[in-house]
Amino acid sequence: MQVIQSLQEMQGLAIEMRGKGKLLGLVPTMGALHEGHLSLIDICREKADVTIVSIFLNPTQFGPNEDLDSYPQPLEEDLEACKARGADIVFAPARGEVYPKDYSTYINEELYSRGMCGTSRPGHFRGVTTVVAILFNICRPDVAVFGQKDGQQVAIIRKMVRDLHFPVEIVTGPTVREPDGLAMSSRNRYLDSVLRRESIKLYNALMEGKKLVDKGFLNVNRITAEVTHYLSQTHLIRIIYIEVVDKETMLPEQEIRPGKSMLAAAIWLDQTRLIDNLEL
Ligand code: PAJ
Repeated sequence: MQVIQSLQEMQGLAIEMRGKGKLLGLVPTMGALHEGHLSLIDICREKADVTIVSIFLNPTQFGPNEDLDSYPQPLEEDLEACKARGADIVFAPARGEVYPKDYSTYINEELYSRGMCGTSRPGHFRGVTTVVAILFNICRPDVAVFGQKDGQQVAIIRKMVRDLHFPVEIVTGPTVREPDGLAMSSRNRYLDSVLRRESIKLYNALMEGKKLVDKGFLNVNRITAEVTHYLSQTHLIRIIYIEVVDKETMLPEQEIRPGKSMLAAAIWLDQTRLIDNLEL
């Protein structure tokens, strides 16, 4: 496995490999890798000849009061995990090379990013689309793999690719969960044993909503009320949003359409922000 830091070297190698007819795959990450990330490497390896994993803690997608400075960065462990999982290249650029001092170009998706995390984390998706566009231009992937865990993120990236005609196929991998249902996340490392026990309520609450839909309740308010009620039973949780949206456009649904709607929620569990979603 090759580890590349330089943007110029990565872009040169990508162009050279494409010239030789290789299909390139990219798995963008911010590091602190867990089984959720690693499952995307498996998917990428099936789709591409060369699997590139990028590890870059992207400052532009963090708000001024968010956890950029405390975000875990176990680079050595991450490199080991990528190697064990069969990645061919890890691209781990330096912050100052991706964003030199005079950096001034940003990409803004303005429709799918309006609600949910777009509302509660202003500027977040602008940072995501910008860095993903940079990574696409440097790594030149034919395929890029993202997780359903961040459902709104992958919808926005698909929209950016469509609107700006990036020649890349976007593949979505299913959410990988802990045995009790908690969606894996780098931020789960912040949870002590008490919070870890509480954290499962996010998935359980969404499942309560889904069960009602499976019984035939298709009224959005009825479902979000149920999820709200479930999450309100502990003082450690503060609800950021609970929404039912179209699973492709992320726009609010009037009525639930089984197979087409997504139930999504974000909470503060003490000081840690957790998100999750289920297809209805
Ligand atoms: P990060 O949070 O490190 O996640 C990298 C990729 O792993 C994303 O596509 C995310 O959806 C996926 N992922 C995370 N947890 C997952 C889980 N439990 N199951 C399946 N996939 C999971 O998302 C980002 O980084 C950044 O915004 C990035 C796209 C890299 C741009 O900076």
